[in-house]
Amino acid sequence: MKEQHTNELATVTFLPLGKTFEVQTGQSILDVALDNDVPLDHACGGVCACSTCHVIIKKGMELLSEMEDDEADQLDEAAGLTLQSRLGCQALIQQPGNLVVEIPSWNRNYAREGE
Ligand code: FES
Repeated sequence: MKEQHTNELATVTFLPLGKTFEVQTGQSILDVALDNDVPLDHACGGVCACSTCHVIIKKGMELLSEMEDDEADQLDEAAGLTLQSRLGCQALIQQPGNLVVEIPSWNRNYAREGE
């Protein structure tokens, strides 16, 4: 079992915005994006029932929680899946360090169905 760090700081850089935020560990990437007004789609509200919060982890994958089966299943539905892909709402920052997270263009410009 990995030790859970709760009061330590990590940094998250969002691409292509190029903005970096210092955050407490224990939060999801989606939490960090929402707290800092970074546009990251999250059609299901962060309960692992869509794949619109898909992000690509350019650096720091090892700082994140391990992927659960639910996340892997949802990610299969995501456009442009890569080996560094995660769902922003499911990937928890568990260790201090520096993360670089790319928000894919199809997410940034995503027009939600039904809206
Ligand atoms: S917000 Fe729907 S799966 Fe992350």
